[in-house]
Amino acid sequence: MVGSPKCCNFVGWTTNSQKNRKSMELTLIILKPSSLQRALVGRVLNRFEQKGLFIYGLKMMQLDETILREHYAHLVDKPFFPSLVKSMTSTPVIVGAIGGKDAVACVRSIVGATNCRNAAPGTIRGDFGMSGQENIIHASDSVENARIEINRFFKPDEIFDYTPAIIHSVYSPDEIS
Ligand code: PPS
Repeated sequence: MVGSPKCCNFVGWTTNSQKNRKSMELTLIILKPSSLQRALVGRVLNRFEQKGLFIYGLKMMQLDETILREHYAHLVDKPFFPSLVKSMTSTPVIVGAIGGKDAVACVRSIVGATNCRNAAPGTIRGDFGMSGQENIIHASDSVENARIEINRFFKPDEIFDYTPAIIHSVYSPDEIS
């Protein structure tokens, strides 16, 4: 599991193999104001569920400049940063913790390229957006950043460890044992 004592009691459903437990990852998504304003929340979340990824945490929250300065620390000196903050604080957002094998890379590939105009058809941004800033959704870009970002947006007891009933239809036994 994306291992952090702080975010996780969570080990996922691979409890008897250290090797496979490591490939069970959690990653952070943020459904941005562009998702909420355009009433795309259900359709965006459905993209992950239909893939076979599972939701382990989900909540609505109002972001402020303080948390955005932390989350987008690598962008604070960019000329577009004030506009990004204005956009990201314009409505509440929905944050989610999405899990599965290799979830970080899987989610990034479902999300698509940062600028929606360059994102491939079939990706969330490719299908639903036209903008670099109003790009529908954020997703963690590495396993290490996923751990940091989940800890930033979720308290430990907001991540729920459960075994999906359909798990044996999504993965073969050797993938999860
Ligand atoms: S990426 O995919 O994280 O490497 O993309 P990056 O280029 O680093 O962009 C990070 C976030 O900044 C937003 N962004 C912009 N906002 C406003 N104007 C411009 N020109 C612009 N370029 C990038 C973009 O929405 C990215 O947000 P996240 O939440 O990471 O998707």
